[in-house]
Amino acid sequence: MSDAYDFSERIGRVEPSATLAISNLAAEKEAEGADIVDLSVGEPDFDTPENVVEAGKEALDAGHTGYTSSNGVPELKEAIAAKLRGNGVDADADEVIVTPGGKQALYETFQTLIGDGDEVVLLDPAWVSYEAMAKLAGGDLSRVDLAPHGFQLEPALDELAETVSDDTELLVVNSPSNPTGAVFSEAALEGVRDLAVEHDVAVISDEIYERITYGVEPTSLASLDGMADRTVTVNGFSKAYSMTGWRLGYLHATEEFVGEAGKLHSHSVSCATNFVQRAGIEALENTEESVEEMRAAFESRRDLLVDLFDEHGVDVDVGDGAFYMMIPVDDDDQAWCERAIEEASVACVPGSAFNADGFARISYAASEERLREAVDRLVANDLL
Ligand SMILES: Cc1ncc(COP(=O)(O)O)c(C=O)c1O
Repeated sequence: MSDAYDFSERIGRVEPSATLAISNLAAEKEAEGADIVDLSVGEPDFDTPENVVEAGKEALDAGHTGYTSSNGVPELKEAIAAKLRGNGVDADADEVIVTPGGKQALYETFQTLIGDGDEVVLLDPAWVSYEAMAKLAGGDLSRVDLAPHGFQLEPALDELAETVSDDTELLVVNSPSNPTGAVFSEAALEGVRDLAVEHDVAVISDEIYERITYGVEPTSLASLDGMADRTVTVNGFSKAYSMTGWRLGYLHATEEFVGEAGKLHSHSVSCATNFVQRAGIEALENTEESVEEMRAAFESRRDLLVDLFDEHGVDVDVGDGAFYMMIPVDDDDQAWCERAIEEASVACVPGSAFNADGFARISYAASEERLREAVDRLVANDLL
């Protein structure tokens, strides 16, 4: 073996995504013929709405196969700005970068704002990639644990106030949350705003699950007074429109921010895929019914799971959004998840992947039948 690959110190700071690792293991076992109930996946189990697929095909037929302008096709950027204005955000098309997935928008934001030793504050349990992205950019992490507060932010505002300081560069807020499903109250977000303004901190508002909520209206952080010029709003098409494989997302921030992040965007991905961007316009403008159908299905699955766990004496802090639930398991959640897949053929993600030891994340992007089957198997194997 040669020593030609002298891996960078930077790449050594991160591990592969824990959620993808468990999904891969589930896929391997399925390939060997096992019947796995896979509740580890972070993607809706619905087809992309038909009219969006058609719009993509039509765009291909119309020859939209070349590069677009780096930050995105003007019609899509305008549709995104209009959508954000609907959320009360004062948005303009020039303040948008269209990216191949929300993940890329987040990656560009971390790279644009964070340098060596800059402090990034995360709210735990936090989605796996925030930590990795912060570390890749050289950032140092500070964390506030929402688990003792039923995963809600409002009761943790005092702790957040003790953590955020003039040294903080960036705070990451994700509501509705992956992995907890929590939707933060307006009062909680106002608390974030007050701290961000007081200490002059930038905030990422990852709103990718915004269309999947149950009986609550999520607040866009950038719509609050004082937040317009310090928020990077990240969103995407994967979850709301079941478009995970299309890879389409975006960020919105000030024109100045977009100028800086746009440099990284143009030197890395060049642009998001042309015909996919055209389908994105259709998704934003003509999918209300499909979005509502999927949302309602997720809501009844959530309610079913809550009832099933309740029947078996499992006390869950239930969120009002996204399609995830954190259930309390053994202290060694990694070992519990290994037993769940090996003995019960049910795949879930260990809470420790999100800095929440003693929990497992269940994704209810699966049919009611499979959800019942999963709970039955966990009970039959003494895992619940
Ligand atoms: C909280 C959160 N943000 C961002 C993303 C990125 O999604 P995508 O890159 O598919 O738009 C995900 C995907 O799982 C997520 O859960």
